[in-house]
Amino acid sequence: MHPSSTAHPLALLCRVGFEPDLIDELRAWFAARSLVVEIHSAQEAVVRVAAVAVAPRLAELVFARDLLVVEQELSDLDVKDRVTPIGRALGLVGAFAQLVMLTPDSESTKPLAPLLTALEARLRKQATATGDDSAASVWMLSGTHALVGRPPADGGARYPGGVPRLKFPRGAPSRSTLKLDEAFQVLLTEAERSALLRPGLTAVDLGAAPGGWTYQLVMRQMRVTAIDNGRVDATLMASGLVTHLREDGFRYRPARPVDWLVCDMVEKPGRVAELVARWFASGWCHAAVFNLKLPMKKRFEAWLQALQVLRPLAAKQHIRARQLYHDREEITVAVVPTELRRALAPVGAGSARDGKRSRVEPAPTGKTRRPDSPSGKTGGKRSRAEPAPTGKARRPGSPSGKTGGKRSRAEPAPTGKARRPGSPPSKTGSRRSRTR
Ligand SMILES: C[S@@+](CC[C@H](N)C(=O)[O-])C[C@H]1O[C@@H](n2cnc3c(N)ncnc32)[C@H](O)[C@@H]1O
Repeated sequence: MHPSSTAHPLALLCRVGFEPDLIDELRAWFAARSLVVEIHSAQEAVVRVAAVAVAPRLAELVFARDLLVVEQELSDLDVKDRVTPIGRALGLVGAFAQLVMLTPDSESTKPLAPLLTALEARLRKQATATGDDSAASVWMLSGTHALVGRPPADGGARYPGGVPRLKFPRGAPSRSTLKLDEAFQVLLTEAERSALLRPGLTAVDLGAAPGGWTYQLVMRQMRVTAIDNGRVDATLMASGLVTHLREDGFRYRPARPVDWLVCDMVEKPGRVAELVARWFASGWCHAAVFNLKLPMKKRFEAWLQALQVLRPLAAKQHIRARQLYHDREEITVAVVPTELRRALAPVGAGSARDGKRSRVEPAPTGKTRRPDSPSGKTGGKRSRAEPAPTGKARRPGSPSGKTGGKRSRAEPAPTGKARRPGSPPSKTGSRRSRTR
């Protein structure tokens, strides 16, 4: 929660069709603080909250992709000159180093892309070198309706509008590979990515076929046991880092603890939450990312029920959940240890924004070693739950055989073009850009 000296309305973005779920979630957030606030959605993918002095952090919300503290609303722009009034509104917002311009991700706003480009070219001149990364945002809800404001005090979405520009890796066997990549970028801090996504670590992928999630782990040189009756991609198997077992993901037990559990099985959310809770309670894994497929109705309630099951894990783990851009009728949950080893997670390693992402626990200090590591040495040489790879490990799709393990995957370079990544889950395209 962040208090504001002045009450401002909020605008939030979500996946089209999930406005009622975000409204349920916001109502619950305010009700928990004995506040009754007017919340509504008059437009696809957009939820509005009446002026409030306290607002949730984006990291506290599962169904919100981005959040704007609205300082100026221009609802009747003259199409002959939109630049002057928006520029004036930006002037009232105060100095900023970055300008973020976007439209909601929906069919009706798709045609606004050229307008956004033209407006941005004119308005970005107002950004100044403020010596920080202060941002101002313009959300074009339509051709004549603009919201002007700032991201919340603790930072807005990691990617403007919550739309990441992740490149579909050549050679990945399924598009859902982007889901796990996005989860790593959005739900983990930088320190956690360096500590927990390293060559030599071990993982179990439940419901792995054809291997999109396994691919993300293997490209980071991790050893994966892929559990699925279905076929796992042959190139992935040739990496020598994958062991494929045709077993039931709900019955499988690792011979020894692994670093990661990832799970994309299509099952009731409560059943998956129980499975993950059992893995942690049994000490079979140290971190997890999993998908919860949500029912058609009462999706926020379904998440709350799953969270109840996961709650005991919050004593030692951060639990973070978000409906990611690449998620459809589902949300993605990350469970990561609160204590990362000192050598791998020096204090202050994460960005300021990253550091405030925890939903349940404070941001990791990174001062301690893994509970199961007596020496505090890196995990590459222990916790070998799975058979050693048979062949020389190479990155799938990498003809050179270079491992790429030292290449930081933490911050995929944006292309610089305001375009939608690969083939996204919905056919709509939110146009967004961030300029200095
Ligand atoms: C959405 S797909 C997974 C896609 C995969 N994450 C990827 O990126 O390619 C779900 C998979 O879960 C598997 N599955 C469903 N129930 C399972 C179970 N009880 N045990 C093992 N696998 C299961 C299905 O066979 C299916 O391949």
